[in-house]
Parts: sequence; C-alpha cells; structure tokens
Amino acid sequence: MAPRVLVADDLSSEGVALLQQAGLTVDVRVGLPPAELERVIGEYDALAVRSATQVTARLLERATRLKVVGRAGVGVDNVDLEAATRRGVVVMNTPGGSSTTVAELTLAHMLALARHVAQATASVKAGRWEKKKFQGRELAGKTLGVVGIGNIGSIVVARCLAMKMRVVAYDPFISADAAAQLGVTQVALEDLWPQADVISLHVPLTEQTRNLVDAATLRRMKKGALLVNCARGGVIDERALAEALASGHLGGAALDVFEKEPPPPDHPLLALDGFICTPHLGASTEEAQAAVAVAIAQQLAAYLTRGEVKNA
Ligand code: MLT
Repeated sequence: MAPRVLVADDLSSEGVALLQQAGLTVDVRVGLPPAELERVIGEYDALAVRSATQVTARLLERATRLKVVGRAGVGVDNVDLEAATRRGVVVMNTPGGSSTTVAELTLAHMLALARHVAQATASVKAGRWEKKKFQGRELAGKTLGVVGIGNIGSIVVARCLAMKMRVVAYDPFISADAAAQLGVTQVALEDLWPQADVISLHVPLTEQTRNLVDAATLRRMKKGALLVNCARGGVIDERALAEALASGHLGGAALDVFEKEPPPPDHPLLALDGFICTPHLGASTEEAQAAVAVAIAQQLAAYLTRGEVKNA
C-alpha cells in the first residue's frame, strides 16, 4: 500500500501534485479542528504543514503510523520537536525556499520606515498633504547592523550593500573570513547596537535569543535608530520597544512578527506613530510558497519512498 500523506495546511498546489506524482496517497484536509486531526492522524505516514497546524505531543501520541512531519517553511515552532524525537518521527523544514522573499519584506520595512510610507499613505487618504511632517532620510551612507547573517540575513546584507549602506554584523556561527566575503564587518553584539542607524534581526527564537532586544539593549542603540524584525516574535521585549519609541529614543520600528500572533488590540505598539507592521507576511509570496511546497514535497517523497533525509 502506498504511504499516506495528510496535507493539513494550505500547501501550494505544485507541492501536492509532486507528492501525488511520487505515487503517494495524498489527502488535503486543511483547517481540521485539533480534535478531528487527533482522530484521523493514526491513518497517516506523513504530515505536511505550514505554520497553522500545531503538531503537539498530544497529536503525536495518536500518530501511531507517522514517520515524518514536513514543515513548508523555516520555523518549526509549531512542532513539538522533543515529542517527535521521542516517538522517532523525523521533522523536516525548508530553510532555503523563502529566504529571498523574507529578505525583500525586510527591505520593504526598512525603506518604509526611512520614508514614512505607511504613515504618509494614511495621511493622504485622510485628506491631508503633510510634506514637511514626513521628511525622511536616505539609507545610502548609513550603517546597517544585522544580527544573524545566515540564509536570510546574508541576502539582506547584499541588497543593502547595493544601496550603498555600510554593514556591520554579529553572527557567532559565521567565521570572520565568510563575513568578509559577504562584505560585512563582524562586530561583537554589544558594539553593534551603538553603531547602527538601522538594525535588522535574522535569528530564530531560542533560549539565547529570547528578549535579545530588551530595555538595556534599546538604550544602547543610537538615538533615532530604526529597528526591523522579520524573524521571530519574542526576540524583542515589545513593551520595552514601545517605551523606547514613545520616548523618541528610537526613530521607528517595523515588526512582521509578534510574541503573540495576532497581537491583542490594546498592544502598546499599535497606538504608536513610529510603528509599522505586517501580519507575519515574511514568506507570503506566490514564489516562496511554491518553492517551499515543492521543496517539502520532494523531501517527504524522498524519505517515504527511498528513506533519504534531506533539507532543502
Ligand atoms: C517561516 O518560518 O517559514 C516564516 O516565518 C513564515 C511562516 O511561518 O510561514
């Protein structure tokens, strides 16, 4: 009998077709309530998800046939890795497919902050014409501080160098040589904050990075600095960020990700002028979603049909 794959989140059709072409039996059942998912999971050898489905220890306990979970995307925050390991279930993600798309959103946020694009749009739509209020600043010649120069951070670096920015970076996993090849100066984390006019974070949420940007870090940043986070919520202490913006110490902040998504309507950042945001759209382009769906389908098929483990 062909292995059975449950596609539980909205995977691009290219990915589903590829699973079928590999001879797997594929059921697309998007948005099942957790109890229903727990009821049916025992019938499947593989589970394909994006970020919506929570692959909990409770679900994995009922997944008696499950061999592999495939996450079409980078973060595996929605998968209980410990429980999966305990049960011998392999967890795969697609670290490469959405990098350019996330980097492009990061650039969009940087430029939007520097030129007040979102605020000026709202102002014109409200019938005003406030040229003076929205005078911005050029990014050329300014210093970008990048925390994390992996798949996404390194693309942001290349684009910002092309915009004639100077780039300093912190990444404990990259050698000085590799950093020099990217065209960045590596600095200690504590030296990055006071140098940068614009700061962009590209790190996963781990015990080491939780609240990496807290009140003390924010105080070390240049007055007027712009901060962008298209990585993970929880890396920034959002209350401290709201205070730094409200006091005028920071010049602006853009978040694509929040500690709690969606943020509550009374979240202090949402009321601030210098704050702009998007609803975790980092990987949301047609191109990236097709790429991560194809990548995860290829990986699942390789594992289920040939026992090969690879992450693309
Ligand atoms: C990812 O981890 O791939 C991105 O944050 C986008 C997503 O969660 O879908």
